[in-house]
Amino acid sequence: MYVIAHLSDPHLDGSEQARDRLRRVTSYVRSSTVDVVLVTGDLADHGLPEEYVEVARELTFDVPTLVLPGNHDVSQPFRALLTEPDHASGHPVNQVRDVGQARFVLVDSTVEGKDHGYLSDDTLAWLETTLTHAVDGPLFVAMHHPPFELHHPVMDQWKLENPDDLAKVLEGKPVTALLTGHVHNAITTTFAGLPVRGAPGIRSTVRLPFEPQTESLVDLTADPGLAFHAYTAEEPLHTVYRSL
Ligand SMILES: [Fe+2]
Ligand SMILES: [Fe+2]
Repeated sequence: MYVIAHLSDPHLDGSEQARDRLRRVTSYVRSSTVDVVLVTGDLADHGLPEEYVEVARELTFDVPTLVLPGNHDVSQPFRALLTEPDHASGHPVNQVRDVGQARFVLVDSTVEGKDHGYLSDDTLAWLETTLTHAVDGPLFVAMHHPPFELHHPVMDQWKLENPDDLAKVLEGKPVTALLTGHVHNAITTTFAGLPVRGAPGIRSTVRLPFEPQTESLVDLTADPGLAFHAYTAEEPLHTVYRSL
């Protein structure tokens, strides 16, 4: 079994509250047996270099840790987190990482200075090429913005704006699952015939319109959590969600 600890949206900003919520999750992960840790964006709240120093300090595990940017991140300081040789600079931050038997294609869905997501022509072309390379093990595509509406009046202003372009690229590719963040909800659905698994927001939770409403957009009282994705060859991907 190959296990991914999938975290998202810690929004570290130097505050004790953000740090404590992330530590509830990271300490649990360190006590678990996983193959890789994946964090799907909004690592820093303002994209400041000093916030990435804190992110690097908090996201220390004895297994490989993969990160991709969210709309709250800023590409160049974010690159300080990358541990693999990084020959590019600035925006976008697209990466391919092999960890054990699994390949992770980490897509930058962000638009500099904006909160919505958009996949540029260059990123789509890169993704198309990357996904044509054969892999023996599971193949995960991860990005911050999920490619569907949440049916939430505020969050949907910040959705991925060209999901159809992504669907065309994913069609027929041997992708095991699409792993996402951004909407601060544990969510599962399908997209382009593929499983989608969204990790809950560590910093906060966004309640949906059919739930009891909070005064502000985000509920800071809901427990932080994470997803564990357990892959076994020839079986559908298993995902369990933990609130901590
Ligand atoms: Fe976020
Ligand atoms: Fe986000």
